[in-house]
Amino acid sequence: MDGRDLVRALKGFGTEGGRRAWRSALRNRRADAAGLPRRGPERARVPGLLAGTEPAPGGGLLRFARSELLVRVTVGGAVFWSWDGASAGPSYAVPGGGPEPDPRAVLEPDTGGGWRVVSQRVTVGVSRYGAVEVRTPGGAVLRRELPPRWWEPHPGGPGAGAGARAGGRWMVRAEVAADARFFGLGGRAGGPRLRDGAYRLWNTDPGGAFGPGDDPLYITMPVQLVVADAGTHLVFHDSTWDGRVLLREGEEGAGSGPDRPGTSELRMDGGPLRCWVLAGTPARVLRGWAALTGAPAVPPAWALGYQHARWGFGSADEVRRVVAGYRSRGLPLSAVHLDIDHYDGHRVFTVDRERFPDLPGLARELDGAGVRLVSIVDPAVKVGDAVHAAGREVGAQGAFVRDAAGREVQGEVWPGRCAYPDFTCPEVRAWWGGLYAERLAQGFSGVWHDMNEPVSFAPFGETTLPRSARHALDGEGGDHRAAHNVYALGMARAGWEGLVRLRPGERPFLFSRSGWAGMQRYGGTWSGDVATGWEGLRASLSLVLGLGLCGVPYSGPDVGGFGGSPSPELYLRWLQLGAYLPLFRTHSALWAGRREPWEFGPEVERHAAAVLAERERLRPYFVTLAHLARRTGAPYVRPLWWGDPGDRALRDCEDAFLLGDGLLVAPVLEPGVERRGVRLPRGRWYDTATGAAYEGPGRVLLDAPAGRIPVLARAGAVLAVRAAGAGAEAGGGVVPEAWAPAPGRGGGGVVVREPGPGFEPGVVERYAVRWSGGEVVVEDAAGARVEDAVVRGADAVRPAGVGPGQA
Ligand code: NOJ
Repeated sequence: MDGRDLVRALKGFGTEGGRRAWRSALRNRRADAAGLPRRGPERARVPGLLAGTEPAPGGGLLRFARSELLVRVTVGGAVFWSWDGASAGPSYAVPGGGPEPDPRAVLEPDTGGGWRVVSQRVTVGVSRYGAVEVRTPGGAVLRRELPPRWWEPHPGGPGAGAGARAGGRWMVRAEVAADARFFGLGGRAGGPRLRDGAYRLWNTDPGGAFGPGDDPLYITMPVQLVVADAGTHLVFHDSTWDGRVLLREGEEGAGSGPDRPGTSELRMDGGPLRCWVLAGTPARVLRGWAALTGAPAVPPAWALGYQHARWGFGSADEVRRVVAGYRSRGLPLSAVHLDIDHYDGHRVFTVDRERFPDLPGLARELDGAGVRLVSIVDPAVKVGDAVHAAGREVGAQGAFVRDAAGREVQGEVWPGRCAYPDFTCPEVRAWWGGLYAERLAQGFSGVWHDMNEPVSFAPFGETTLPRSARHALDGEGGDHRAAHNVYALGMARAGWEGLVRLRPGERPFLFSRSGWAGMQRYGGTWSGDVATGWEGLRASLSLVLGLGLCGVPYSGPDVGGFGGSPSPELYLRWLQLGAYLPLFRTHSALWAGRREPWEFGPEVERHAAAVLAERERLRPYFVTLAHLARRTGAPYVRPLWWGDPGDRALRDCEDAFLLGDGLLVAPVLEPGVERRGVRLPRGRWYDTATGAAYEGPGRVLLDAPAGRIPVLARAGAVLAVRAAGAGAEAGGGVVPEAWAPAPGRGGGGVVVREPGPGFEPGVVERYAVRWSGGEVVVEDAAGARVEDAVVRGADAVRPAGVGPGQA
């Protein structure tokens, strides 16, 4: 039986469960037909001509014949605009509706009968027909959104009247520069550069292992980051509804014709037409995005170490055996993740006591060895279970999603027939969060949210809840069309707030398969069921980069891929990539081969030991990056163009990345490769393995033997590292590692030591590095020499014949 067959069997196809599922599918189809307004004749609408304007804080209101547009520049520079009177709040992404309007920004006449709002960082221009332009202070156009178009029920037809507007479809088409590149839209397997094509905005379990061709996946977001010579901007269309983005990169005329702009067409099935735009450098844009949607949670320091998961440990003894395997070989291990097979009958918040007779005891035992336990948490609750009975008592309605007729919507997941908590209801979130007390009592230190798109295996047409299912939507009320994409975000909030209440002194460790804009407030994510293969390896990097640019900095793949058995070479290359990603975890399916490093032969084991040791040495750097992400919104893992968005060659480079400011990582993503080209941003870079120095910008060829991938350090960088021989205790043994600046130049960096398990922000220590009398010295903020700093690269040689643009 292969993996897919097994999944099918588990899902109950051809069984009584399967037949039940079909019956419930038919029920739900009927429910959708009865519960959703019928789509009758529709009428298209565009804003029409500008009829008048009115000043409003931070900008103004522009009245068109058939709509109105509000433009507001806010303190900090983010621009908000909305059509048809939509306000910025409530919003699942932007808590509190965003910052205050900037009183200095006013609406004033522009050329050609249009109007504009001028602010320090951007000018927003509005044409007489309702096209909205975002321009740089120098006048270059970053984005031009053409007048929107709505489709609405014909007056008097079915669906007209109350609530019809929320369900009204709309479309906006935008033009960007011919040289622009698109990134973001959540976690996309075919990126990070989003090429021409359609991208759906509907969180989806692909229902099997995915590769670069699979779209959409678990996390979709109407968040687009656009990088062009003229500047970088992020645009967020704040509607949770199902939608589609059609992207087409532009083309430059290059002297033989006019430029063709890039285009982005967004079609939404409903929700308000409102958007936020941030412009500036990539760092400034991400800082602004985090200010709008919330600071990324800082994972506990142990969650930045290497972790081992598996679907199918099967017993406590097997967990012990695996942990002992790491220990006996001296391989560092931070955590073990237990999947649904440790549940009793796959039911959430239960334990199979035959195979895991004493979980708290196991947790204590592992803790003694420095290993934490992390638990999977699925949202669906088995019908008839104690949790189900308790949920039914929550509030006046019970905790579970209902259909339009008031009946509980029941789907099929691992435990059989299940009900779905409505995480868009505050009371339900509070109840659910309280249930994590059971996980803490079992000794778990963190949680891993799964299946929360949400999934129902029963074939409802799509493997999720019927669109007519009703949700509280935090007092707004609505159906699954509006709630689907924020279901997992609500679950993450419930889990996070529950854990904070239950264990106030500790930062929770939570990561979630699905989510939406703002999910970083509650933790991170992982790649989901990425296919075991070289394409899967590439896709897993695309996800991490794309999510980081959407404000979700903590993620990583299932090292080795989810199903099947990677070749030793693929496994090692994946481990080498994973070691430089925030979540560093092996994981595999029930039917997949094992992922312990020693299962791949002595050579892989030897190389894996070096990989894991280097991750431990760099763990303080990851801790620093986690704290910096919280303070600045900058992802740990950044595209090569992060600091040089104007470098077009870097914009198109998808097979390498920056880790913080200091490191450039060039993973091997193909079989049989022992040497690879690496494109360097400007400045001097040291190959950390050989010590050789290279000058960017340019492309160099570097050795990538089986034992390592190219990792380069930026001249003048200061990284936090574990001092040689130091233990892993929080904050202990951390020293700055400085890389020699290029001759005549200086450098510097910061170190944030783990402040402990609580919410303290951590002190930012600043270090400067410079040449002094033929020697590289590192100084702290007071100018005192840091004696225990490690200095590297001071005696580096530049390999003959390698320089800018060569090789
Ligand atoms: C799907 C998840 O993506 C995977 O990681 C997990 O092992 C299975 N569900 C079983 O819980």
